[in-house]
Amino acid sequence: MTPRTFQIKSFGCQMNVYDGERMAELLSAQGMSPASNREAADLVVLNTCHIREKAAEKAYSDVGRLRREDGSKPLIALAGCVAQAEGTEAQRRSPMIDIVVGPQAYHRLPEMIAQAGRGARPVDTDMPATAKFEALPARRRASPSAFLTIQEGCDKFCTYCVVPYTRGAEISRQRSAVLEEARELADAGAREITLLGQNVNAWSDGERGFADLIRAIARLDGVERIRYTTSHPMDMDEPLIAAHAEVPELMPYLHLPVQSGSNRILKAMNRSHDAEAYLAILAKMRSARPDIAISGDFIVGFPGETEEDFQATLNIVDEVGYAAAYSFKYSPRPGTPAAVMEDQIAREIMDDRLQRLQERINGHQMAFNRSTVGLSTQILIERKGRREGQMIGRSPWLQSVHVETAAQPGDIIDVTLLSAGPNSMAGAERQKEAA
Ligand code: SAH
Ligand code: SF4
Ligand code: F3S
Repeated sequence: MTPRTFQIKSFGCQMNVYDGERMAELLSAQGMSPASNREAADLVVLNTCHIREKAAEKAYSDVGRLRREDGSKPLIALAGCVAQAEGTEAQRRSPMIDIVVGPQAYHRLPEMIAQAGRGARPVDTDMPATAKFEALPARRRASPSAFLTIQEGCDKFCTYCVVPYTRGAEISRQRSAVLEEARELADAGAREITLLGQNVNAWSDGERGFADLIRAIARLDGVERIRYTTSHPMDMDEPLIAAHAEVPELMPYLHLPVQSGSNRILKAMNRSHDAEAYLAILAKMRSARPDIAISGDFIVGFPGETEEDFQATLNIVDEVGYAAAYSFKYSPRPGTPAAVMEDQIAREIMDDRLQRLQERINGHQMAFNRSTVGLSTQILIERKGRREGQMIGRSPWLQSVHVETAAQPGDIIDVTLLSAGPNSMAGAERQKEAA
């Protein structure tokens, strides 16, 4: 039977969110339509994440839950990084999975769905360089803030990380293809574009680098705001820092993970930078753009991490004063060098360190939010708030701002920030002065 309705569930990073949107567009272009709920879906695509053990295990429990009360099940496609990492093994582990499709092969979904309809159990984990982008339909729908993948894969091989294996080698999309997609998104209503890549700032077309691409996108009609994520400290070059000083569309927010404050641990992680180099980059960034908000990622309990190493992490958190940061307990991943290192850290120690780190981060996040109270700025309205007449938008520093306004999603309005919470701000709309 050919499926008529589908549901796609994406987990993990923004690149998976982007891939999920593109798969939905692809299936819609085939005449399928989104199902109102999971029970009603003829096809369910689970777009999975392999970064930590919990995320990967979730994929299989989610598959199990797709069995309906009457014993039937939808057609099930396992996509994303678990699909890439496990390939045919996934179907051995869970025979309910009909299709296994990796992150670089999902443009072949329609064909694979047809094969599955004939009783086959297709698996495609090939990684042809940018074939999928060329095969996907044009962008016709966009939210006010849209994602655009420009770079995929990673050559950095941090010793804890699966991404170089699940997403393959670093590749950049063609500049012309990126600009065309950005134009399509702007025409479809996007005001803000967030450029995505595992190492987005490593983007290059051989001659021109990432900063030049940002400048070109900033010149497109309708693009009011540009963001990018995730950057690697070693690819933060001078032109990119200069762009932050000179391109008004480039928002004052930088997600720059450091992972640990201890040089000994950074070395064991193969991060190719030490704490001092990281801080030096931030100092340059702050002199180019004094109001820039910094966010980051941290891992606690990497093999061999001592209390002293962990203290160094707390110190770097204080030194940077993060506006936001994400922290994770180290999770050993099959096939990565760190998984077989000695001195794996006990769970209780990890729990304790994670809690202390998160408290420290929360304190800085609150302090950052408080420091913006009283500022006059602009927000991009993204969606309705919970209360009647209330809308939620984003400040330049990526804060969620709640405001009473008649403005609609996609509008950019002037606000004054009135009060700060740990995770959001309250603002008041400022009326434009009469001419
Ligand atoms: N390319 C990005 C994002 C990688 S995945 C980068 O280099 O930062 C997102 C985050 O997950 C990482 O920054 C890291 O903090 C975390 N992470 C990756 N592998 C992990 C593992 N094995 N255990 C715990 N956290 C991990
Ligand atoms: Fe993983 Fe490191 Fe690559 Fe980021 S830079 S994706 S953490 S290997
Ligand atoms: Fe997860 Fe793959 Fe993204 S492992 S974090 S979905 S690149």
